[in-house]
Amino acid sequence: MSTNQPSPLEPVNTSAQEKTLHMTQLATPDMANFSGRVHGGSLLKLLDQVAYACAARYCKSYCVTVSLDHVFFKEPIYVGELMTVLAHVNYVGSSSLEIGVKVVAENLKTQAKRHTNSCYFTMVCMGDDGKPSAAPPLILETEAEHRLFKAAQMRRELRKEVMARNQALHEQAGESLPGTQVEGPAT
Ligand SMILES: CC(C)(COP(=O)(O)OP(=O)(O)OC[C@H]1O[C@@H](n2cnc3c(N)ncnc32)[C@H](O)[C@@H]1OP(=O)(O)O)[C@@H](O)C(=O)NCCC(=O)NCCS
Repeated sequence: MSTNQPSPLEPVNTSAQEKTLHMTQLATPDMANFSGRVHGGSLLKLLDQVAYACAARYCKSYCVTVSLDHVFFKEPIYVGELMTVLAHVNYVGSSSLEIGVKVVAENLKTQAKRHTNSCYFTMVCMGDDGKPSAAPPLILETEAEHRLFKAAQMRRELRKEVMARNQALHEQAGESLPGTQVEGPAT
């Protein structure tokens, strides 16, 4: 038997890098809220796992989530639907990566598919010393990848601007950012 044939279980990756990851999961009752729809928090946990796997496989290294933005719950997902999470490395900086995530829900009876969610994770590639380390530079191979890269670059600038303005607002109000001041016993 020839061993050169691609396994039917493995999708063929024609790209020079592992930039895309797809994961499919059934929406089960343990993921639901009181109305029988998938709970937002359950979905975010799943999306974080897929974004992590996409980033870690691309970097061939441990990665951490540093931020999540543009979370859009466009349509509900119902228990019994099949959720496919599509993750893609849109942008790579020095140590950080933007992973674009999209969710498609499929009604298994009608096979109708709906784009239900999208968001962007910023993940940081970590070295064995527990510090940020260089992520492999992204090779842009298609027109679509060039477009995704440019859009992600603009979002990166927007994130920096929003963080700076938010910091200024807190300083004006004489507050520290939530989570930046740790209360503890006086020593
Ligand atoms: C991620 C972490 C290591 C970054 O540390 P840091 O001191 O900010 O490191 P740096 O300043 O070198 O930033 C590293 C990268 O993160 C990016 N970054 C930092 N804060 C960010 C934010 N709020 N949003 C988006 N990107 C951010 C920087 O732009 C930089 O990207 P670049 O190397 O591509 O230019 C640190 O914030 C951390 O450990 N956070 C906790 C992560 C975690 O526990 N996640 C949940 C479980 S996985």
